[in-house]
Amino acid sequence: MPSSRSSRRAVTTAWESSDWYLGMVGRRGHLYHRHLALPALLALLEPQPGERLLDVGCGPGVPAPHLARLGVHYTGLDASPRMIAQARKHHARSGTFVVGDARHLRAAVGQNATFDAVSFVFSLQDMHPLEQVLSEAAGVLRPGGRLVAVLTHPCFRVPRQSGWGWDACRKLAYRRVDRYLSPLCVPARRAGGAGTLSFHRPLQDYVAALFAAGMTLEALRELAPTDAMRRQLGRSAAPDNPDIPALLALRARRATG
Ligand SMILES: C[S@@+](CC[C@H](N)C(=O)[O-])C[C@H]1O[C@@H](n2cnc3c(N)ncnc32)[C@H](O)[C@@H]1O
Repeated sequence: MPSSRSSRRAVTTAWESSDWYLGMVGRRGHLYHRHLALPALLALLEPQPGERLLDVGCGPGVPAPHLARLGVHYTGLDASPRMIAQARKHHARSGTFVVGDARHLRAAVGQNATFDAVSFVFSLQDMHPLEQVLSEAAGVLRPGGRLVAVLTHPCFRVPRQSGWGWDACRKLAYRRVDRYLSPLCVPARRAGGAGTLSFHRPLQDYVAALFAAGMTLEALRELAPTDAMRRQLGRSAAPDNPDIPALLALRARRATG
């Protein structure tokens, strides 16, 4: 894993040149956004009209119109100016978008700015150091404010260290996990997608970092692709097992005292 001494340097991800991602997500989001991540985000967030939400690592800002429709004041923050430009192009009417580093959130949004809620959608797993990012997120939350994160399930989706297998005797697709407890920094392997990084951590590291940031874990959901999604993703060609979750969604709350 990269050292936390690098945390004052430029962000190490290369989302600036990730046209593949913008193409895949589009304006309305990927299937995983539409069928799993957005419903989980809204269910766990329980947003109230007039609340202020900071979406950290917002990318092209897919949740913005869904939250604006509910009367939430949405601010999207991302380290990549290209992602922010795309978010403004599609969703300028639904929120405010700023370029900033999750590792220095308080500096990015203003020392006195506070939010009722902070969200991370498919972004926490791309940020390092986790403890610093979560402590900064807690620092911009009002007392009692909540944090909702949706990420690829760390127990079943370990980049390059997990995959589907086929048990011919039992006629069953199973999930193979080669390593889990050791944190990993994994460069994305994608044609045309230059050097973005993902960070695998075991679930206990997420929970420990939330506690260290003064947050209490309140709710956790594990989400598997729906049948409709599986049909659209063409799962008949590559069988999987609908009982194995792809995503994890959680809500934590900053202490009131
Ligand atoms: C997989 S994309 C997810 C984007 C968006 N939330 C979505 O659901 O489409 C991860 C995002 O995290 C952003 N990111 C990574 N490290 C960051 C950091 N330290 N500060 C702010 N954004 C960061 C990247 O620029 C990228 O847009």
